[in-house]
Amino acid sequence: MKRTILFVDDEPNILMGIKRMLRPMRDKWELLFANSGPEALEIMAANRVDAIVSDMRMPGMDGPQLLRRIMQEYPDTIRFALSGYSDQEMVNQSIAPTHQYLTKPCDETLLVSALEQAMNARELVPNKTILDKIARVEHLPVLPDVYNRITAELAKGEPSPRLIGDIVARDVGMSANILKLVNSAYFGLPRHIAAPQQAVIVLGINVVRSVILSLHVFQSFEFMGRSSFSLPMLWGHSMRTGAMARTIAQHEDLPKEEADYAYIGALLHDVGKLLLEAHCQEECQRVYDEVRAHNRRVAEVEQEQLGLTHAEVGAYLLGLWGLPPSVVQAVAGHHGAAPPPGELGAADIVHFANLLDHEIFVFNEHYAKAEPSPERLDGIGGPERYAQWRQAVLTMNMETEPQ
Ligand SMILES: [Fe+2]
Ligand SMILES: [Fe+2]
Repeated sequence: MKRTILFVDDEPNILMGIKRMLRPMRDKWELLFANSGPEALEIMAANRVDAIVSDMRMPGMDGPQLLRRIMQEYPDTIRFALSGYSDQEMVNQSIAPTHQYLTKPCDETLLVSALEQAMNARELVPNKTILDKIARVEHLPVLPDVYNRITAELAKGEPSPRLIGDIVARDVGMSANILKLVNSAYFGLPRHIAAPQQAVIVLGINVVRSVILSLHVFQSFEFMGRSSFSLPMLWGHSMRTGAMARTIAQHEDLPKEEADYAYIGALLHDVGKLLLEAHCQEECQRVYDEVRAHNRRVAEVEQEQLGLTHAEVGAYLLGLWGLPPSVVQAVAGHHGAAPPPGELGAADIVHFANLLDHEIFVFNEHYAKAEPSPERLDGIGGPERYAQWRQAVLTMNMETEPQ
């Protein structure tokens, strides 16, 4: 089935350029074009649109206004903002209604992959009834403001850690949370980090950016009140799994990029639990009742009762947000079969870091302990390697970490 994408820009030249650029996609995509916000809304009323890519600065109804309307009236259309560097103010206003930002000029590969990945995110979730509940009933959380600013800065190439640190420092609440976290035992840093700029220099931009993302995700679900599981426990589990993934990646001497993916994937591997809990509370309650009554595994009972797992739901959100495909795949498969044979990477590390945390820290006594499957052990070259990882993780000394 063809996907429909609507592009909105008041400059005809830009639309012409996009049309020309995306000609190779014409078998797969139906492309629609509008010169203004009102025209875009007319098109939306007459067509089912999978994704909208809107300019920010337009006379009359501007980008943020348009995307806000789309969010309210067509919540399952994926919303992209396309903006120039000079439109920072407009970007700030559109933070809430936008799933992802693209910067002008946007090259073909980037545009195609960003759109494909976001639209494919839906395919990751096998049960469409649940997916509709998650995507429609309430709006999905959107990427945090600071995260988007950092991404925009990264897109310019050769970002300076100091500048990135400055962006983080402007969000006082977020900075305080980050500093608290990076100075905790999860990071095991030899000296105290006093400022976000220093955190970026010591830990790297990607690590700081993913810490921001997980803090934000957990904060957006704090409203849940009563939930089927403990949020602070899940937070502790996620942070420890992240720290373990970092240790394993270091032990394996993984390239920096793949090590970062492993860390980000581990930090966010269970976000699907939050989404399911927020949107399908009754179903979740039944799942956790069964898990506790018969000491079973969450993913297994989810699969049985809901026809999907939190792993797929989490991957859906991360895919929509445009996180790197390696991260999305690692999250999608963290309870599933081994990834196709190849280099050791984020998918294996996230899977085993999660198991190790359950094994070492007894995440919840009512859940069944997950033993590593022979198939997944084969995927990393046998149980000896798992034993080495376990040993590396045990030297981390995180026992005293308060949750
Ligand atoms: Fe999980
Ligand atoms: Fe987990």
